[in-house]
Amino acid sequence: MDKFRIRGGKSLHGTIAISGAKNSALPAMAAALLTAEPVTLRNMPMVRDIVTMGRLLAFMSATVSTKEIPATDYVIEAKSLNEAVAPYELVKTMRASILTLGPAIARSGVAHVSLPGGCAIGARPVDLHLAALENMGADITTEHGYIQARVSNGGRLRGAHIVFDKITVTGTENILMAATLADGETILENAAREPEITDLVHLLRKMGADISGDGTATLRIRGVQQLHGAEHSVIPDRIEAGTFLVAGAITCGDLTIDNCAPEHLGSVLEKLKQAGVMIESPSPTSLRVRGARKLIAADLTTEEYPGFPTDMQAQYMALATQADGVSTVTETIFENRFLHASEMMRMGAHITIDGRHAVVRGPAKLSGTIVQASDLRASAGLVLAGLVASGETIIDRVYHIDRGYERRIPLLVERGPARGSRALGGSGGDSILRWAFSRRRNQAKIAARDQSDGHLRVPILADVPSLRQRSRGMLRATALQARRADARIGIPSAAEVLGPGAGSRSRPRSDLFCI
Ligand code: EPU
Repeated sequence: MDKFRIRGGKSLHGTIAISGAKNSALPAMAAALLTAEPVTLRNMPMVRDIVTMGRLLAFMSATVSTKEIPATDYVIEAKSLNEAVAPYELVKTMRASILTLGPAIARSGVAHVSLPGGCAIGARPVDLHLAALENMGADITTEHGYIQARVSNGGRLRGAHIVFDKITVTGTENILMAATLADGETILENAAREPEITDLVHLLRKMGADISGDGTATLRIRGVQQLHGAEHSVIPDRIEAGTFLVAGAITCGDLTIDNCAPEHLGSVLEKLKQAGVMIESPSPTSLRVRGARKLIAADLTTEEYPGFPTDMQAQYMALATQADGVSTVTETIFENRFLHASEMMRMGAHITIDGRHAVVRGPAKLSGTIVQASDLRASAGLVLAGLVASGETIIDRVYHIDRGYERRIPLLVERGPARGSRALGGSGGDSILRWAFSRRRNQAKIAARDQSDGHLRVPILADVPSLRQRSRGMLRATALQARRADARIGIPSAAEVLGPGAGSRSRPRSDLFCI
């Protein structure tokens, strides 16, 4: 199993370009199910959740193609949706699979999506998604762990007035997508306002949807008969940018963060500045962070956008362990999102938890040890704590971090001691970070192909033999479809893909992969 080994105690200097937002890319991929025409998505992050979503869409009969793996551009074409099924084996690895529910039922009048269940950060029900779809005329039952949704009214949802009891990001996205093909107008109140939702609205508009109110809590969607293909570049990942801002601040480094959207980071920038971090914006798409020698404690409450994001809470907690004074961190979005705190305490942090509040007393001398990552953002928090800990920190279960971060910290260089590293007994070793660079290994797993009968194949769902068989069959068909569509979507022809020895065991010459 992959682990990260971090030797803490040096400051980080350099420039890093931020990738596309995972939480924009996932709904954008699901939105491609709304049309039979190809949707081209650019600036996609090279992270595991994107590959998982690609597999899920392929399972649902869409063609998902890309010229290389890992890829930043994808073409998704859902000519038909024979199987509007999102199986448990895929949904359990990524809750965002629920995003296929809205588009699938809107497009084909029927959907079978596994219930995602709880996860490390909370129970995370989907009751609000289901109630809204019922409001739009869907008959929904949940049996054997699956959501079975069907529309009797000629297979078409009808517009409705929906008021969410609670703000939900994927709930808003699901209903937004479903409403684009509904009969009549849908008004969605108490909608989430995250930039990822506005980005989805921009894509849907390019596909022909009629939506107004983006960026506000009330969205108005007038359903259209059908949507068409489009090209879209997803917005930069504000959480990745925020994580690197904390990396620069906590190590007392000097980082320039390029290709980001500072306007999406308002509450994060404000909180970091309050904690004494120096941040400037040298251009409209970049930020420069310089750590202050002394960080100051500041309380934090997570909130829906434009408030401070829950997805930055673990990273902020790592920073708070190094700040002078008492910081109270209040988590209001998820009921169980402090698992990283106990691991930070094992590293020497002074934290007490009382329900939704964590009281952090700093500055603490952290020392490296073996810690367990429990979810994506908790892992990021532990990496940041490892950067300022003395000695070596081993982070176990890093597959969590691969879900949402590209492994690019090794591109940064260490220079000089980090904040208080001498006092902390910093290792002063040759390299602070030996962040396992095993993306290649993951790529190999994804990209392995069997050319024996001239078909591209991708091994998926290795642990589930029956599903694997079925999925492989579909992927073969998918690969063939992709090749048939070559001319139209401008990817190499089948002959180029397979080389002159197509049908033999010769190695392919092309860089086309289908997932
Ligand atoms: N909730 C309900 N019922 C519902 C839906 C949500 O009670 O039907 C509750 C949840 O249990 C939670 C709160 O409402 O307490 C907010 O949940 P929300 O639905 O907004 O979360 P989500 O859509 O499942 C997305 C992101 C998360 C991010 C949250 C909050 C994606 C794919 N996921 O999740 O991202 O933490 O919004 O901003 O967009 C991550 O990237 O690490 C991550 C977890």
